[in-house]
Amino acid sequence: MPTILRLDSSPRGNSSHSRAIADEIEHELISNNEGWSVIRRNLSNQNIDSISQETIEGFFAPKESLPLNLKKATALSDELIAELEEAETLIISAPIYNFSIPSSLKAWIDQIVRVNETFAFDGESFSGLAKTKRAILALSYGAAGYTQGGELSDMNFFEPYLVSLLKFIGINEIEVFRIEGTSILDSEQLELAKTELYLQINKILRGGN
Ligand SMILES: Cc1cc2nc3c(=O)[nH]c(=O)nc-3n(C[C@H](O)[C@H](O)[C@H](O)COP(=O)(O)O)c2cc1C
Repeated sequence: MPTILRLDSSPRGNSSHSRAIADEIEHELISNNEGWSVIRRNLSNQNIDSISQETIEGFFAPKESLPLNLKKATALSDELIAELEEAETLIISAPIYNFSIPSSLKAWIDQIVRVNETFAFDGESFSGLAKTKRAILALSYGAAGYTQGGELSDMNFFEPYLVSLLKFIGINEIEVFRIEGTSILDSEQLELAKTELYLQINKILRGGN
């Protein structure tokens, strides 16, 4: 039965807008697809290790003959890549932080983007190797104007980065659900924006795979 890997990166627990959007996405997928299971990782409290010099050495050394220290240094990467490979759908929830992604999510990315595992380079060009079929992003922005040519578009190193990175590792089917202006909308406007977004989620994901 297909597996969903869900990664949450906001530290704000139940108050998080991006997690609430991911909850809706997860609920929609689970209720339309009997038997699907979900693996959840709360990246914000898991302290995924930053890659070290030995991790990088291990990434580029032949896997069959890795010395023990490099095996240890790449063990978390092995585990996270195996988890990703098992997933037919990846859900990532994230807030924009300082125009980019939260560092906990970046730490996960640094562990899973690995030559000959999730991407290949043949001397001329790159190709993605990830087996995960699709990714669904649940994103929240404090300000507005980051998308559709808005005045902050040039500062958006968040959504375009995530989308490009996922495509780089070979996940080409990507759906993005976002809420903008969480810091400026009043509670009524926020509720309205979320209701509209949830309708969009229901419409796009309902009855689909
Ligand atoms: C450390 C930090 C940095 C932030 N940087 C930005 C930013 O660059 N642009 C922006 O629009 N909002 C920024 N925000 C606001 C959050 O992106 C916004 O509140 C978002 O809705 C939080 O998502 P969450 O509710 O899932 O935690 C920042 C918030 C924090 C705490």
